[in-house]
Amino acid sequence: MKTYLVTGGAGFIGSNFVYYMLKEHPGARIICLDKLTYAGNLETLEEAMKNPDFRFVKGDITDRKVVYSLFEEETFDAVINFAAESHVDRSIDEPEIFLKTNILGTQVLLDACRKYGNIRFHQVSTDEVYGDLPLDRPDLFFTESTPIHTSSPYSASKASADLLVMAYHRTYGSAVTISRCSNNYGPYHFPEKLIPLMITNALFDKALPVYGDGANVRDWLYVEDHCKAIDMIVENGKIGEVYNIGGHNEKTNLEVVKTVLRKLAKPESLIQFVKDRPGHDRRYAIDPTKIKNELGWFPETDFETGIEKTVKWYLENREWWEKIKSGEYTAYYEKMYKNR
Ligand code: NAD
Ligand code: TYD
Repeated sequence: MKTYLVTGGAGFIGSNFVYYMLKEHPGARIICLDKLTYAGNLETLEEAMKNPDFRFVKGDITDRKVVYSLFEEETFDAVINFAAESHVDRSIDEPEIFLKTNILGTQVLLDACRKYGNIRFHQVSTDEVYGDLPLDRPDLFFTESTPIHTSSPYSASKASADLLVMAYHRTYGSAVTISRCSNNYGPYHFPEKLIPLMITNALFDKALPVYGDGANVRDWLYVEDHCKAIDMIVENGKIGEVYNIGGHNEKTNLEVVKTVLRKLAKPESLIQFVKDRPGHDRRYAIDPTKIKNELGWFPETDFETGIEKTVKWYLENREWWEKIKSGEYTAYYEKMYKNR
């Protein structure tokens, strides 16, 4: 039976991946290494903690000592790196921690994989490394050969990590793959991101802040479909390759916000247009042909079903997000949105 290291497994996608792997690979050991930043939450992993095949380790991926000692203790078959600072708005405010965690942290993991026997390494990246597409060219999509062209400190840090991963493959023969996924949504999504922010604000009858004109387009993918794709890449992906992941689910932000309001039976008058994000990417859209053809991946959840499930999850798990929203989040929200 295999042993997987999942970094950042107490965050949104990482935790969904932990549950996906425990379900799909019974008997495999899943070790989660997470620093528990503001975005990491042990309550999310409460169920996993009951499973003897799961182990949680609190630690920072930039801390070489901590990482190496974990690699001494455990024998990993594969490392899947989700750990990152992930919010564009925070990266505009304070870029430094993004460079440290997203680039240097990735380097430490790559070094550990080299040192302990060319361990298989998968980097969870983002479509944001490709920059954006114009709104008036719906025929254009990101493919794996689209040039890297970043807009925010967040995307620049993720792109840098990708370059490093490919350099380690070329120079040291590291057994790596990279996936670049579009925007995810689903359970355990931290309520600073668009969909959970809108759901939770609407439930409190609070204003829904839409940046700029709300016409920006994102290509939404239900988180479980992302987890399935990563599992397939780790199992059968070609070493040294990049795979784009997305399900042709493009929506404008305004469409998304209105759908959320409709699902909650809340009025559109809650929508408030606010100052735009600096450098705001206009449109993301993935061409998933490569992963479809090579690995047989396809998305199983359409947007209508996925958003239904997501809204239901937030309605049934108020305790999880109300606790988050009452903590240090209050200060973050004031800083980001007051007088915007
Ligand atoms: P998240 O912010 O919800 O979770 C990040 C997790 O990483 C948290 O648990 C946090 O505690 C942990 N972490 C942060 N710094 C760490 C460090 N130095 N050491 C160890 N752990 C650390 O993020 P997410 O939305 O789950 O994203 C996961 C990954 O997927 C990221 O690499 C992100 O770039 C990528 N991604 C996200 C999306 C999306 O829509 N959310 C889309 C494509 C790719
Ligand atoms: P976000 O969830 O932060 O993801 P990303 O920036 O990585 O795509 O934002 C998704 C879109 O929603 C993006 O175009 C910015 C917009 N947005 C708002 O309009 N209002 C908000 O309060 C937030 C958080 C995002």
